[in-house]
Amino acid sequence: MEKIKIGLLGFGTVGQGVWKTIEMNRDELLKNTGLQISISKILINNLEKKRDIVPGAGVLTTNPEEIFEDDSIQIVVELVGGTDQAKSYLEKAIEKGKHVVTANKALLALYGKELTEKAETKGVQLRYEASVAGGIPILQSIQESLSANRIERIMGIVNGTTNYILTKMSREGVGFEDALAEAQQKGYAEADPTADVDGYDAAHKLTILAALGFKAGIDFQQVYREGIRRITPTDIEFAEELGYAVKLLAIGTEKEGKIELRVHPTFIDKDHPLAAVKDAFNAVFVEGNAVGELMFYGKGAGDLPTASAVLGDIIGVSQNLHHPHPQAYKLDFSNSAKTVVPMEDTQTAYYIRFMVKDRPGVLGRIASTFGGNGVSLSSVIQKGEGEGAVPLVFITHKTKESSVQKTIRQIKELEAVQEVANLIRVESLS
Ligand code: NDP
Ligand code: HSE
Repeated sequence: MEKIKIGLLGFGTVGQGVWKTIEMNRDELLKNTGLQISISKILINNLEKKRDIVPGAGVLTTNPEEIFEDDSIQIVVELVGGTDQAKSYLEKAIEKGKHVVTANKALLALYGKELTEKAETKGVQLRYEASVAGGIPILQSIQESLSANRIERIMGIVNGTTNYILTKMSREGVGFEDALAEAQQKGYAEADPTADVDGYDAAHKLTILAALGFKAGIDFQQVYREGIRRITPTDIEFAEELGYAVKLLAIGTEKEGKIELRVHPTFIDKDHPLAAVKDAFNAVFVEGNAVGELMFYGKGAGDLPTASAVLGDIIGVSQNLHHPHPQAYKLDFSNSAKTVVPMEDTQTAYYIRFMVKDRPGVLGRIASTFGGNGVSLSSVIQKGEGEGAVPLVFITHKTKESSVQKTIRQIKELEAVQEVANLIRVESLS
């Protein structure tokens, strides 16, 4: 039996989840790993706050030095969130020769390279399984179990809040604002929902997945990002009619050293396994050149699911404590030979919804503008009739983003076109 002492930074949802899991599974942890894991100190913000779990006297502290200066603490687990303060805490812990575990995707997407290099220089481990898709063990699978493969594609529903909102809109026909309000009331979405609904959280996670999966020097700013605020019940109805589900997907592909990275709402074939991922669940679909298609599914957030991943990292670190090269999985930001394809050069199919005057010749003029730009159409639907504007929907074949954008700019100028109401990218099974 080996005794492992932890310093926790943060005792919110995940920090308390880690505490509860150690209490709940003490025997399993010992039996399965031979480790006796205990939390020695916990850094918090406010000592006066009422807490459901009250650790023993002297465990909670507002002074981080009590953790960094305690030589008996081998592993520091960062669960405070945010970037600047969390970064300086992790740097300090690494500086002190402590191994570090974090669930902080924003921190890793922005400063992963720096932190990886610091950890390597100091010969300590940095692990972060919980940072992508919470309880799903996707990072270790990519880094270890799939390391005999060249990863060709990663497509994930990696944000539970937006998946909950889109599922609710699709099931109940409600608008984005109502679905968001319910997600907030249920505690999925924050009071400021920007990170989730505008796609930042998914883009942070895609940066981490791509750095591991494609071994490429990805800068977070290179990820194309679009959120779900513009999705309406009308778009969801058209998706259903055309045989698609609407999901916020994080998509990374690599072909011949060229990488595509994008987060955006997507029409995905109803038969695709990702289309069946509902509510706040996450899933990551991976294609490797040996293994073929895989899908990882589970809870991407919550106290116990996230703690399961954090504890997996603590165990991994502990089992490597005495190894000479302890860096377990590494964000490889060094390979600059691989380039990220600019969004305008990416190719996909598109759903485009116009609001147009219902007059003879309008459909023909719009269709010929697509054709004039080399954009081939696969289906057209017009709904309604009468004096006001009616929706006119096109699905294109796979085509270049810049050609579609140019076409839309031209169509916008047509007198009969009231509005380009939405453009949503389409992923098919092929
Ligand atoms: P919470 O907001 O629930 O908890 C944050 C904790 O950190 C609180 O205990 C707070 O103290 C403490 N804290 C915050 N700032 C400071 C500071 N400057 N100094 C000292 N203590 C501080 O966060 P979560 O547990 O939800 O999230 C933690 C991390 O895990 C984040 O990076 C998040 O993105 C990530 N994550 C969260 C998931 C989830 O399901 N919640 C899922 C996957 C990842 P006090 O208690 O006194 O307020
Ligand atoms: N806010 C995230 C989500 C949870 O909604 O999936 C933590 O990654």
